[in-house]
Amino acid sequence: MITIPYLTALTTYFSYGLLFAFGQIRDLFRKILDWWSADNLQGYAPICLGLEDFYIRRLYLRIQDCFGRPIASAPDAWIDVVERYSNDNNKTLKRTTNINRCLNLGSYNYLGFAASDEYCTPRVFRSLETFSASTCSTCVDGGTTVLHNELEECVAKFVGKPAAVVFGMGYVTNSAILPVLIGKGGLIISDSLNHNSIVNGARGSGATIRVFLHNTPSHLEEVLREQIAEGQPRTHRPWKKIIVVVEGIYSMEGELCKLPEIIAVCKKYKAYTYLDEAHSIGAVGKTGRGVCELLGVDTADVDIMMGTFTKSFGSCGGYIAGSKELIQYLKYTCPAHLYATSISPPAAQQIISAIKVILGEDGSSRGAQKLARIRENSNFFRSELQKMGFEVLGDNDSPIMPIMLYNPAKIPAFSRECLKQNVAIVTVAFPATPLLLARARICISAAHTKEDLIKALEVISQVGDLVGIKYFPAEPKKQQEEDGRLKLD
Ligand SMILES: Cc1ncc(COP(=O)(O)O)c(C=O)c1O
Ligand SMILES: *[C@@H]1O[C@H](CO)[C@@H](O)[C@H](O)[C@H]1NC(C)=O
Repeated sequence: MITIPYLTALTTYFSYGLLFAFGQIRDLFRKILDWWSADNLQGYAPICLGLEDFYIRRLYLRIQDCFGRPIASAPDAWIDVVERYSNDNNKTLKRTTNINRCLNLGSYNYLGFAASDEYCTPRVFRSLETFSASTCSTCVDGGTTVLHNELEECVAKFVGKPAAVVFGMGYVTNSAILPVLIGKGGLIISDSLNHNSIVNGARGSGATIRVFLHNTPSHLEEVLREQIAEGQPRTHRPWKKIIVVVEGIYSMEGELCKLPEIIAVCKKYKAYTYLDEAHSIGAVGKTGRGVCELLGVDTADVDIMMGTFTKSFGSCGGYIAGSKELIQYLKYTCPAHLYATSISPPAAQQIISAIKVILGEDGSSRGAQKLARIRENSNFFRSELQKMGFEVLGDNDSPIMPIMLYNPAKIPAFSRECLKQNVAIVTVAFPATPLLLARARICISAAHTKEDLIKALEVISQVGDLVGIKYFPAEPKKQQEEDGRLKLD
């Protein structure tokens, strides 16, 4: 759990209060002007309404230059960020032809497959020539190429399940599969910090949803016991089925799932487990097979394994892996399989080739080197940030490391100052995080060299002093230097 320093909480509340008050005053003036101009009154209700609309206009748009920056290159260790300018106080941003070469600490390019790769890229080109960019058909019509068959076999083997089904988008994999797996009369127990695609899938399913405290197996057990005792609402009949949904690595916190403990609870109460490995598959574990491998969990104990190809594999799409019976059922019933165009063939080829490299089936040891590299890079970077006094979330071995910013003014300050020094870092705030818990999120890649990481650390440290986000006292300088030197050798 994140505990905000008392003073920081106070100033953060104050800042949001001020922004909110000014926004309300400006809205009041807008309303009066609109009333005068009278063009807007056509008998329609406003289409953008409510708190979210207010938040976007009065808070987000003030710092919109920090988001959605156009990129003019592949998401490699370094990227080309297009400069923009504004003539109206950043209300509208126009692209220039100037480009800023920046160190990329934002992309989910964990294994460095997102840029051109000596093994993958030529094969992707060939698949583009053979199969074209799109199958222009759904899987059950003409959209299943031999590449698609190979991909499903390859993914099942890689994650350690008998079968797999692949979708064109990771988000859709969660949001379309959950409603097929469970419906009215069922119970979904979801981690409180699960990804939006899970939240929307759960809502769309019509099942009852209960939330347990983030990554807390004891609370999960409490919720399970209570719900099993209660049964379905009103009728109190037993639940038709229960699915517990967790993530391998939490994308906004960088934390590893307490999978062994959660599995033990689920087994005890006969609840199915659904594990979203979007950020962990390919990125952690000795051979890249995700949190099960890292934490010593038998994949047979996870009923439904989900993951995406948008991170470690440098492609797009998502998968569900499970028993043959389950996958066959999903293929017959899931609308995203029946009615959506199958995954783009070059994207499929990219995944197959990346998995081959990871497994060493390309005849080199590059895969193993990448895996060792991401682990080393992540652990080095995390420990250095902690030594500097930042509040860094997450666990060792996780390539995601959020740095807490809290205060709304520190979001654009941190982002802009880093960019000025050619370091591109993603900042995240509400609604992706709770209002008070804004953060910068660093994603480390195997493509980063030691020099890259050292440059990044220098810039982040300097900007951290400037912006005032070193919430903990730094370790004594001398020891830090020694450690730094030891690690650099
Ligand atoms: C945990 C989790 N699940 C699912 C998704 C959606 O995947 P995609 O971006 O491939 O659509 C994401 C995306 O970031 C994620 O973090
Ligand atoms: C507009 O954005 C730039 C950075 O892109 C920033 O330096 C400047 O302060 C912003 N201006 C306002 C009025 O927010």
